[in-house]
Amino acid sequence: MTHLRSIVRGCGSYLPPRILTNKELESIVATSDEWIVQRTGIRERHIAAKDETTSTLGIKAAEAALADAGLEAAEIDLVVCATSTPDYTFPSTATQIQHGLGNYGSAAFDLQAVCSGFIYGLATADKFLTSGSHKRALVVGAETFSRIIDWEDRGTCVLFGDGAGAVVLEAAPGEGTKADRGILTTQLRSDGRYRDKLYVDGGPGSTGTTGHLRMEGREVFKFAVGKVMDVVKDAFADAGVTPEELDWFVPHQANRRIIEASADKLGIPREKVVITVEKHGNTSAASIPLALDAARRDGRIKPGDLVMLEAIGGGFTWGSALLRW
Ligand code: UT7
Repeated sequence: MTHLRSIVRGCGSYLPPRILTNKELESIVATSDEWIVQRTGIRERHIAAKDETTSTLGIKAAEAALADAGLEAAEIDLVVCATSTPDYTFPSTATQIQHGLGNYGSAAFDLQAVCSGFIYGLATADKFLTSGSHKRALVVGAETFSRIIDWEDRGTCVLFGDGAGAVVLEAAPGEGTKADRGILTTQLRSDGRYRDKLYVDGGPGSTGTTGHLRMEGREVFKFAVGKVMDVVKDAFADAGVTPEELDWFVPHQANRRIIEASADKLGIPREKVVITVEKHGNTSAASIPLALDAARRDGRIKPGDLVMLEAIGGGFTWGSALLRW
């Protein structure tokens, strides 16, 4: 029996040209290149220029993904943008990306699950495509976290950066087995009791201001390593796949230590782990498609490879997606 799958037709990413190095941060807050590299693995991050916004970064990533897919913008009938740093409270950043691409009339909306946003976006688009209601989706993760950072807080300002990544998904027939190309399973979780561990202290409905990011880093770290295990194991079980069958582990890029500790606990060898955090820091919803695009372009991820994505973010929200490239 035919079983619809959401296959990846193309991917793309974009980082703004301005690079902020650890050395430069030493003149902004009491920190050191050595501390940042040792505790996080981050060496540099990219910062959006004054005339760049989340949607302009998203448009560039989406254009690259469409070119990679060999598709015109008009062939897309769903645009999902995962972001916590929208250009405006409304309209959605997704509609501005849609407009920038010259795609009119398709469904477009934003989705907010902070650093898990791309996983939530993939899972949402997958439901649209596998229901048969839509044919091709653009899923974008785009952020300008530099705009919500407290540049006097050394505990957070060294960690984040700006960027965008995108994939084009297409509904295609499969057999309903783990040998199919496309998304095999997604696992989504959230728990609002953890709000105070990672949040922004402002918003249109509370303070009327944009606010700044606040985080209890050590608490987030502990939660991240623990919860990642659950969603990754559940994804393996749901798809009937063993960790040994995995070709690539592409986690949210927040901290090299979190990534390595999670991979070790899951028994995934280090050479199968894609790490790009040193180049762009934590770009929240953009980090997974940025890492995916890097590993695809340098030839690591190849057609047929089994790829596990996972993330955890404010809320807390967390989730995983297992797909065959
Ligand atoms: O995307 C999902 C959300 N975010 C994350 O996944 C981040 C999760 N957390 C982390 O990545 C880590 O907890 C951090 C990188 C944020 C911090 O690393 P840590 O090893 O947990 O350090 P810590 O918070 O326990 O702080 C250790 C020390 C403290 O000094 P004292 O109290 O021991 O004297 C901090 O004040 O390091 C100090 N510190 C810094 N020193 C130099 C904190 N930030 C800095 C800094 N430079 N930038």
